[in-house]
Amino acid sequence: MHARTRRARPRLLAGALLVCTLAACGPATPEVTPEPVADEVEVFTWWASGTEKLALDAAAAVFAEQHPQTVFADAAIGGGAGSAAKDLLWSRLAAGDPPDTFQVHGGAELAEHVANHDLRPLDDVLDEIGLAAVLPAAVLDSIRVDGDTYAIPSNLHRANVLWANTDVLRDAGLEPTAAFDSLDDWLVALDAVDATQVTPLVLGSAWTQVHLLEQLLIAHLGPEGYRGLWDGRTDAGSPEVTAALEDFERLLAYTNDDRDSLDWEDAAFRVANGEAAFLVMGDWSLPAFRSAGASIGSDVVWAPSPGTSGVIDLVVDAFAVPTEAPHVGGALQWVATIASAQGQTALSAAKGSIPARSDTSLQALHPYQQQTVAALRRDELVPSLAHGGAADTATLDAVTAAVGAFTTGTTAVAELQAALVHALTSR
Ligand code: GAL
Repeated sequence: MHARTRRARPRLLAGALLVCTLAACGPATPEVTPEPVADEVEVFTWWASGTEKLALDAAAAVFAEQHPQTVFADAAIGGGAGSAAKDLLWSRLAAGDPPDTFQVHGGAELAEHVANHDLRPLDDVLDEIGLAAVLPAAVLDSIRVDGDTYAIPSNLHRANVLWANTDVLRDAGLEPTAAFDSLDDWLVALDAVDATQVTPLVLGSAWTQVHLLEQLLIAHLGPEGYRGLWDGRTDAGSPEVTAALEDFERLLAYTNDDRDSLDWEDAAFRVANGEAAFLVMGDWSLPAFRSAGASIGSDVVWAPSPGTSGVIDLVVDAFAVPTEAPHVGGALQWVATIASAQGQTALSAAKGSIPARSDTSLQALHPYQQQTVAALRRDELVPSLAHGGAADTATLDAVTAAVGAFTTGTTAVAELQAALVHALTSR
């Protein structure tokens, strides 16, 4: 979709040459390195509305406390998982109009930016705060490219969560639990809900469909097999992948008709309100349930999505700083805030995530989050496809298109699998 080619850059240099020509300045002109501008920071995210905006506001409030002289300019563009923001970001970067700092996923998505634009190495920031010592190794890996650090992680999400409304389950004659030993057990529960008037499994638009398929791939391939999809060790044409796609097809039969126009937060509200029984979604939905008045642990319960127990499908939210950021000083202040224990706690407490740093107090966090912190230490971590950790944009776009063709009924399992093989082998 995007032309990922390194832009012919130096806008500033071109400007400087022009000034020199007009002023006829000679080689004697002293070179002046301007101080990084720090009176403002434009922060580009997709945390534009609902509970995500509240979380960003919470981090911005810490920023205002830590850097009272700097104006925080919120440049958030709505759409879950950056579905609209990422395209705009790429065009701004390509046009030489970068924000001061932008949200980016650790892993493949960050590496792609590093290959295509000039991002400021942030090793100094990392060292100054002593961050390397308190980040899990997988997180540290995800923000480094060829040994250099290009983003500062703000928070970590778990993507493989099954959420369930307990009243809906009881009304269908089921145990009020989201924990299923196998996909088959879950299908039995979905059947029971299907016999009532309630949507068994609420599903949203394109990226949430990829998000659901991703959990089935992890369930069928296991963490090692799933990781192998992204580095060529696992054949996407294998029978295990076929089985995952067949389960995907089975699950679609239990989903809502309006899925293609539903974003994740409204899907979460349907579970909170009892209009749907189950949702497979990352833990950014925790605050959405709570804002709808649901108590987590009683009204809404959760478990690793079926077949993924012992694995965390990890999403690393981080911030990068383009070399040409107009307010580099402000950007460095922002990454310092989101790297600070106070910034990380404020953001995660409002966002359902956990701090990326392992040395923050967990007191302000919900018991769900405290359990996730413990799980992070013991579970296998795998990178998310739908959330930029596992593969580059072209691959994700190709998989998303193939999934869309399948969920809208244009293709069958065999064609979807062929499209996955093509997307993964033609890179
Ligand atoms: C993810 C992001 C999360 C959350 C979610 C839904 O990609 O990492 O922080 O914003 O999308 O929008």
